[in-house]
Amino acid sequence: MDQRTYIMIKPDAVKRGLIAPIIQRFENTGLVIERLELAVLTREQAAANYVEHEGKPFYEGLIEYITSGPVVKMVLAGPEAVMVCRKLMGATNPRDAAPGTVRGDFGLTVDANVVHGSDSSESARREIDIFFGE
Ligand code: RTP
Ligand code: MG
Repeated sequence: MDQRTYIMIKPDAVKRGLIAPIIQRFENTGLVIERLELAVLTREQAAANYVEHEGKPFYEGLIEYITSGPVVKMVLAGPEAVMVCRKLMGATNPRDAAPGTVRGDFGLTVDANVVHGSDSSESARREIDIFFGE
């Protein structure tokens, strides 16, 4: 059964010219890109996406950062899309991310860690609605 996931190339990666090599990694999985768009997130969208982190010490910085420049918003679909993409992305902190993963190969810091990916099918539905809902 196909599953959908929401993937976002974060502002640091867009600024560093890494859109193409990162999209290549996701295409290499065989998942299908269903939506693809460059955009600057509104504060409302950022807050909705990271509602689970509200009140944490890194929250304000996270919202500032994710709205600081264009991101690439994507929907990918295919078998086990959520898990496949989380594996491909690697650990949240690039220092812990394995070589061969997107964060392991391109990530510099935990605050600017190159990509976002939904952590469950429920999160994916919620995030796709936030970023691509009418
Ligand atoms: P994401 O939501 O961006 O895909 O990342 P994730 O699931 O791997 O990590 P999550 O726990 O959801 O954290 C969201 C983002 O917050 C920043 N963060 N900073 N300084 C810190 O301790 C810290 N912890 C998390 C990261 O940029 C992370 O991607
Ligand atoms: Mg997360």
